Amino acid sequence: MRKAMMHLAQFLCHGPTYHSVAMWRHPRTRAAGYDWSRPELYQHIARTCERGRFDMVFFADLNYISDTFTGSMAPALRNATQAPEHDPIPLISFMAAVTEKIGLGATYSVSHQHPFHAARLWATLDHLTRGRAAWNVVTSLNHNQAANYGEEYKPTDDRYDRAHEFIQVCRKLWDSWDEDAVVMDHEAGIFADPDKVHRIEHDGQWFKSRGPLNVVRSPQNGPAILQAGTSGKGKDFAARYADAVFAIQPNLAGAKALYDDIKSGVVNAGRPPEACKILCGMQPIVGSSRAEAEDRQAEHNALVPLEGGLAILSGHLDFDLSTLPLDTIMAHRTEPKLQRMQTRYRSLTGELLTLQQVAQNHGQSVGLPQMVGTAADIADQMEAYFDAVGGDGFMLSSIHSPGAIEEFVDLVVPELQRRGRFRREYSGATQRDHLAQDS
Ligand SMILES: Cc1cc2nc3c(=O)[nH]c(=O)nc-3n(C[C@H](O)[C@H](O)[C@H](O)COP(=O)(O)O)c2cc1C
Repeated sequence: MRKAMMHLAQFLCHGPTYHSVAMWRHPRTRAAGYDWSRPELYQHIARTCERGRFDMVFFADLNYISDTFTGSMAPALRNATQAPEHDPIPLISFMAAVTEKIGLGATYSVSHQHPFHAARLWATLDHLTRGRAAWNVVTSLNHNQAANYGEEYKPTDDRYDRAHEFIQVCRKLWDSWDEDAVVMDHEAGIFADPDKVHRIEHDGQWFKSRGPLNVVRSPQNGPAILQAGTSGKGKDFAARYADAVFAIQPNLAGAKALYDDIKSGVVNAGRPPEACKILCGMQPIVGSSRAEAEDRQAEHNALVPLEGGLAILSGHLDFDLSTLPLDTIMAHRTEPKLQRMQTRYRSLTGELLTLQQVAQNHGQSVGLPQMVGTAADIADQMEAYFDAVGGDGFMLSSIHSPGAIEEFVDLVVPELQRRGRFRREYSGATQRDHLAQDS
C-alpha cells in the first residue's frame, strides 16, 4: 500500500526568538547575520521553504510582554521570551512578493477586534497573495494581552463563544460579494452588479455588522483557517472551521488521542476527516553524523536559561510558577490554569516530569519533541511519529535561524521525497490546494 504523504509548515515569530529562547544568541543565528526586525530575513525564509515545497510558513503572534513570572517583566525581557514580538501581518505581503506558491499563515487574535476589520484585512491579504493566505484564529492566552486592550481577561468558554460568532460574521462578509458580482462592463459603464452585492444585517450576541464587505470576493473566499487550542470549545471551533490545526503533543499517546478526537469532531461537524489537517510541532536538529547532531542539541539546550523557560511557561499558562518548588510533579497539580498544558507534563514515552524539566523543555522548544540525528535519522523519526499518530504532518521549529531551516530543506526534504513521504512539486496554487494535496 502507498504510504501517506506529509504536510510541512515552518513556525516563525516576527521577533528574536521563535520557540527556543536560545535562538537569538545561538552562535549560528549570530553568524548568519540577519536582522530579525527586517523583511529580508523572512523573504529568505519564504523562498527557502518554497524551494522545499512546504505547505506554508506560519507566524505565531502575541500582543504582550509577560509579567506573569514573578510579577515582573524583567525575566521576559532579559530572556527575549517571545518578547519583543513585532506584528507579523505586514510580512505576509513582503513574503508574497518574492514567492509564487507557498502558503503564508499568520496568527491574528479575535479577542480584541471587530470582525469587519478582520474580514477586510484577511480578504485583502488573500487577494495580495493570490489565494495563499492562512489565518490562525486564536482567542489569546494571557491577562497581559487583555490589559493591553483595556479589557478583563475572559474565561476560555466565553472567548470561544465570541470567536464562533466572530468567524460567522467574517464568513457572511466574505460571502457578501457573489462570485460574478464584478462585471467590469466598460461599454455599459457598469463596474459591479448591485444585485450581486448583499448586506449581511448581522445582529448577534457579541457583534453587529450591516455589510457588505468593501472587498470583492477573494481567491479562497477568505483565507484558509488555522486553529491552535485544546479545550472542548477550541476543538469544536477547529472541527467546524479549520483547514488545519497546529498541535503541540510531546507525547505520542497524547498526539494520537488529539488526532482522533479532532478528526471525529470534524466528521460530526459534517466534514470529511481530511478537510482538517493536523500539524504536530517538532524541532529538528540535523547533523552530518548522529554524534554531531547530538553535540548540536547539547550546545543548544545548554544555552537555554531555566529562568527563560520558567518565564515563557508562566506566560503561556498565565500562572506564576515562581510560587512552586522546582521539583513539583506538574501532572499532580490541580489548579485549573495548570490543566491547559497537561500534555507537556509527560515525556515522549510518558514519564511524569518535574517543573524544572517542563520549564527546560518549554525554553528549548515550548515542549515540542526534538528530533535529532542525520537527515535519515530524522526522516525515520518523522515517519514513526506520523505513522503512529495517523498523519497529517509537522510544524517545524528552529533552534537557530535561518540556518536550521536551510539545513532541513537541503538535507531532510530530499530524504523524505526519496521515501515517497513528501511532495516533489506543488499540484495547486492556493493554501487550501496545498493542504488538500495528499499525493
Ligand atoms: C499550539 C498552540 C499555539 C498557539 N499559538 C498562539 C499564538 O500564537 N498566539 C495566541 O495569542 N495564542 C496562541 N495559542 C492560544 C490558543 O489560541 C488559545 O487561546 C488557548 O490555547 C486557550 O484555548 P484552549 O483552552 O482551547 O487551548 C496557541 C495555542 C496552542 C495550543
